[in-house]
Amino acid sequence: MNDAIQAFERHFGSSPAQTVRAPGRVELLGNHTDYNQGLVMALAVDRYISLAVAPRPDDTVELISTAYEEPARFALDDLAKDPAAPWANYTKGLLVQLRERGVRFGGFNAAIHSTVPLGGGLSSSAALLVSSALAVRKLYPYVLQADGSGESVESPAPPMTDPERMALAKACQAAENRFVGVNCGLLDHISSLFGRAHQVIRIDCLHLTVDWAPLPADLEVVVCHSGVRHALVGGEYNQLRAHCESAARSLGVEALRFVSPEALEAGRGRLSERDYQCARHIVGENDRVQRGATALEANDLATFGEFLFASHASSRDHFHNSCPELDVLVELAREHPGCIGARLTGGGFGGATLNLVHATEARSFREHIAMAYEARTGQRLESWICQVVDGAA
Ligand code: GLA
Repeated sequence: MNDAIQAFERHFGSSPAQTVRAPGRVELLGNHTDYNQGLVMALAVDRYISLAVAPRPDDTVELISTAYEEPARFALDDLAKDPAAPWANYTKGLLVQLRERGVRFGGFNAAIHSTVPLGGGLSSSAALLVSSALAVRKLYPYVLQADGSGESVESPAPPMTDPERMALAKACQAAENRFVGVNCGLLDHISSLFGRAHQVIRIDCLHLTVDWAPLPADLEVVVCHSGVRHALVGGEYNQLRAHCESAARSLGVEALRFVSPEALEAGRGRLSERDYQCARHIVGENDRVQRGATALEANDLATFGEFLFASHASSRDHFHNSCPELDVLVELAREHPGCIGARLTGGGFGGATLNLVHATEARSFREHIAMAYEARTGQRLESWICQVVDGAA
């Protein structure tokens, strides 16, 4: 948080009025299931986007980021996409959504600092959207209703309820879908808002419900960054989603959530090969999340870990959202006796792997994988042990 405050003071020459932060997330199991109305498990982790903000009297927003040199400045009556500062599109898109929901706000200055690695697959984008939404709520209090409508309220805004959190997650998703142009699901925004320390967030994207289950205490969450930057804005993500939706249509259902592994095989003849492969990944992931939840509840870590490895293999072989570097990372993780499971996390095409590692072995695991990864790919590996934390408040 200090970095955001200092950046604010340096650039704007005064102190911020408020600070907020929102965590990144690690997708534990359930890949690309969210926009298929499926099931997913996630963790909010101790990598944050922090915002230091203050209102300003004109209807202008000035954003600075410690990750970019140029500030972004725009008038509230001109919330258009700016190719010169794509990072500012998240906040802009969010403002558009709040306004459409009936929220009134004025201008503000904001300094953004991120410890969520950009392009690392931990969803810096959702953390930026959520922190922007909370920053505006602190400066210009509002409440969102479960039906999505919103209204400005007297200061201070009341504490957020879970239905309001869900409504806010949807507003963030809409900003990303409609303004930024990524047809992502709700996983990232829900995770950033609903995280709980030491708990796995279990999300049902059909009923839009969330519950929590403890993550076994002796496990560390190790994230290994392949060094391949992924950008969902790249279009592959939207293509995968289109294949899933096309498969669901051909099978006569609203979403792949309603397709069992048996029904998929029975309907295979109605699908193009690519649609089938994509559907196979999603249907398999929903099944693994369900069975994984049971394994975790029984503290059967070996079985849970195998679901992680199987999830990665399905990404690699069916969904095609892995890349050679991620495959190497998972292969190397499997070699280490302390690792119970590993898989790519998030959209794919680069970014990071998630590794669940027995705490006593975490150090040796990181050393092993860093050395072996460099030997295999010539690239230095960055890895982090992440703590599982509360969501944004
Ligand atoms: C990205 C998207 C999410 C989700 C994951 C894959 O993180 O933003 O909505 O689809 O990929 O599970």
